[in-house]
Amino acid sequence: MHLNCRNAISLVKQEGLLVRFIGNKDSLVDTIYNVLQHKEIEGKSFFDFFSGTTNVARFFKKMNYQIYSSDLLYFSYCLQKAYLINNADPSFESLLPKLKIKTSTLFNNPFENIIDYLNSLVGIKGFIYKNYTPEGTKLLEIPRMYFTSENGAKIDAIRQIIEEWYQSNNINENEYYILLTSLIEAVPFYSNISGVYGAFFKHWDRRALKPLQLKPINIIEGTQENQAFNTDSTKLINNIDVDILYLDPPYNNRQYAPNYHVLETIAKYDNPIIKGITGMRDYKNQKSNFCNKSKALEELDLIASKAKYKHLILSYNNEGIMTESNILDILNKYGKTELVEFDYLRFKSHNIESLKTKKYIKEQLYILSCSN
Ligand SMILES: C[S@@+](CC[C@H](N)C(=O)[O-])C[C@H]1O[C@@H](n2cnc3c(N)ncnc32)[C@H](O)[C@@H]1O
Repeated sequence: MHLNCRNAISLVKQEGLLVRFIGNKDSLVDTIYNVLQHKEIEGKSFFDFFSGTTNVARFFKKMNYQIYSSDLLYFSYCLQKAYLINNADPSFESLLPKLKIKTSTLFNNPFENIIDYLNSLVGIKGFIYKNYTPEGTKLLEIPRMYFTSENGAKIDAIRQIIEEWYQSNNINENEYYILLTSLIEAVPFYSNISGVYGAFFKHWDRRALKPLQLKPINIIEGTQENQAFNTDSTKLINNIDVDILYLDPPYNNRQYAPNYHVLETIAKYDNPIIKGITGMRDYKNQKSNFCNKSKALEELDLIASKAKYKHLILSYNNEGIMTESNILDILNKYGKTELVEFDYLRFKSHNIESLKTKKYIKEQLYILSCSN
């Protein structure tokens, strides 16, 4: 089956981290859902096994599925907690009475008031300032230019106060992850990078020069008890039984953790030992087997054979390290598998210049329905 994917070319949807996360399915999730509907694939539970930005799980949460989600990245886990586990607008009822809120903001809702408060904080020279801004790293041979010094210090001030509020029980767990997510989603808009944190520009990109401002995230209301994990998802296959198991693994040998190391450190704020020109944290425990061809095939076989599901849906593309015939050989062992393909317009970077280097690839959806 072959489809044309019109959604795929909505390049400039400016929502938080979404447009800049490699392989995110923001612009494809509608199409994926429509294909499943068309094939009468539905159910009550959905496991987003490689959740990343949580886009796909969010969509299915809105469709009233009970959601399971997991990712190796801690910042993805923060998003999972805020968007999938949390089901209601935060009230900040313990914190608000303790803050002196300016009268001009009294008409805001509680979440907007807290975001305004965070946006007004004075910067602190903490870990981010000291390691990822030019002033903080001026003694290095190549000073790091991930953030302006002002924005680096602002990130530290915001991150530190969120932690302080949580440790002193002034905010609850849901409120904690909601605020962390608001910060994590804002940061890429002020980062002096082309999309990932594997390198920084040696000149200032215009967007990095703007003063950092957080925005309230869009809360998804719900009634289900969902579950989120920050682990190698294959460790969960014996414990979970779902209607739809959705797999969206890395497609090539580029590991995710080094490409998002600064976001990971902002989320964890754990003063890691860092190395090299980019100030990279260690990521040996966050390596994915899907970034290695033979291990990826073994891993796919393991998941398809051991996990309990009615339908296994794999997103992949025709340039991935596992070939179409390898994938079909594996999945066909466990049930009838169908392949649906979409033309997808890929951009090499977020820059509008890259329109000149546009290239179509085929996004693939492998659909395995269990025979038993
Ligand atoms: C293609 S991205 C998923 C994108 C996601 N569907 C979205 O829309 O944002 C792949 C994700 O898998 C995660 N990952 C890779 N191997 C993993 C594993 N073994 N267990 C859990 N997460 C893994 C990566 O950290 C990355 O976030």
